[in-house]
Amino acid sequence: MALLAILEYPDPRLRLTSQPVEAFDASLGRLVDDLCETLRASKGIGLAAPQTGDRRQVLVIDLSGGKAEPEIYINPEILASTAPGLVEESCLSVPGVVGNVVRATQVRVRARDRSGEAFERDLEGMSAVCLQHEMDHLVGKLFVDRLPLLRRLRFRFAASRARAQAA
Ligand code: NI
Repeated sequence: MALLAILEYPDPRLRLTSQPVEAFDASLGRLVDDLCETLRASKGIGLAAPQTGDRRQVLVIDLSGGKAEPEIYINPEILASTAPGLVEESCLSVPGVVGNVVRATQVRVRARDRSGEAFERDLEGMSAVCLQHEMDHLVGKLFVDRLPLLRRLRFRFAASRARAQAA
């Protein structure tokens, strides 16, 4: 297993669309293990493969604070979603930013496990929110894109000023 580097905004690779996994092979197993290890080391609650520069539709979620094995979702699809709520989010790829976004708080998801077995699961609360946040990464979307316009402009201004100061 290896710790993967997490890409940070505004890395253009965070904007790419990922592809469905077709080969449930050793390379996929390594990716899953590395994502789990990297998630644990970063103390995050979710991590998607494209955040590490890998364009396969894989994400891992751990709301147990490292007490349980992360949940693994490969090629996830949301079958139904309901109960929208305003929830506070942050992202390992956008360090230092916290914002409120609207998400469904109940979802039914279909995905595959690391062996390729399909499953369906009902998620609610933070699990549902985290899944949607990580699925956004699979289509090149970040939670800051979902902030209200003024908040989004403030974020972009602060980010570009920070980059100018670092340059
Ligand atoms: Ni994220």
